Amino acid sequence: MTRPCREWVNASIRRIEMERMRSAETHLLRIDLPALPGLTLYLKDETTHLTGSLKHRLARSLFLYALCNDRIGPNSTLVEASSGSTAVSEAYFARLLGLRFVAVMPRTTTTEKQAEIVANGGEIHLVDDPGAIYATARRLADETGGCYLDQFTFAERAVDWRCDNIADSIFSQMAAEEHRVPTWLVCGAGTGGTSATIGRYVRHRGLPTRLCLADPLESVYHRHMADPRIRIWPNGRSVIEGIGRPQVEASFVPELIDRTIAVPDAASIAAARVLSQFLGRRCGGSTGTNLWASLAILKEMAAAGEKGSLVTILCDSGDRYRSTLFDDGWLAEQGLSCAGYMAQLEQLLAPTPATARTGRNDAAYGRPVSELAATLAQGR
Ligand SMILES: Cc1ncc(COP(=O)(O)O)c(C=O)c1O
Repeated sequence: MTRPCREWVNASIRRIEMERMRSAETHLLRIDLPALPGLTLYLKDETTHLTGSLKHRLARSLFLYALCNDRIGPNSTLVEASSGSTAVSEAYFARLLGLRFVAVMPRTTTTEKQAEIVANGGEIHLVDDPGAIYATARRLADETGGCYLDQFTFAERAVDWRCDNIADSIFSQMAAEEHRVPTWLVCGAGTGGTSATIGRYVRHRGLPTRLCLADPLESVYHRHMADPRIRIWPNGRSVIEGIGRPQVEASFVPELIDRTIAVPDAASIAAARVLSQFLGRRCGGSTGTNLWASLAILKEMAAAGEKGSLVTILCDSGDRYRSTLFDDGWLAEQGLSCAGYMAQLEQLLAPTPATARTGRNDAAYGRPVSELAATLAQGR
């Protein structure tokens, strides 16, 4: 690619910075757990970004990084390998700059996410073998003389880990809480960018918070944490999109993770469904993975008599998985049953009349008014 002219790069960076200035921070939801007194769960609700997930932050950073490295010009076709959420956000930023965007994704990616990419002006290239997304994206970028944004390589270095990131936002929003420094932060890893940002941030600020990786059982990451020689887990097939990978990605930084919890897909889906009932709106599968691991830690803390807080991430909306994780027929086809896991979770996450009435759980406000009214009328 010939070097883009500096005026175009400057104008493009300015457009992205203007978008950042117009955007609001996402909410931190507080959930008191009557069954676990003295412990509070917080959810960083990343669904309220304009493109619906935590990947809005990453896409903005990847675009700035590519622009500042002169990798994007006014005629570039942008290409990305993705399981969908990053591509939705990148399609949005490509349109902001008037550039063509192609998302290379596994054929199993939900049709809801594909529709969102198209709605944001992107194009879709599906591959049968999920492991082929990287080489295909690189080839398409080469063929068009364009730019492979390559989130799996660049996520950890494109995001500023010292300030103006998801960790910075979480810790400032916690400032007035009883336990303002969380004992644990729990997140999943796709690229590994989010966990790297959080891990570096807590070290830089000298915070005692520990980082737990919530990883699908069929992902390589928790195996790699147990034995660093394991770098691929090629036949693991998880239905949780966005997190868990068959290979250790370049952006994954294992040194920053204090603990790993492997979560079966059925438990993630159960947790996503129970949280969706609790909030009155659907939450995605990776949020379920995070929630399952978070509640496991909180139960351990309760058993040890500890008090404190734990923060995890509500990554994207379950509306993106209506035709899969929220469809009982689809679950049965996959041989997944989550009823047992749901029963365990409902004991911890059932809204009580007191929380519904006083609104002490911020999340209770997310429940439809009709449902809350019915709950109150029945004295539940
Ligand atoms: C939908 C989705 N994509 C990706 C990720 C992982 O982010 P990262 O790529 O920063 O590791 C998550 C969760 O953490 C997620 O829920």
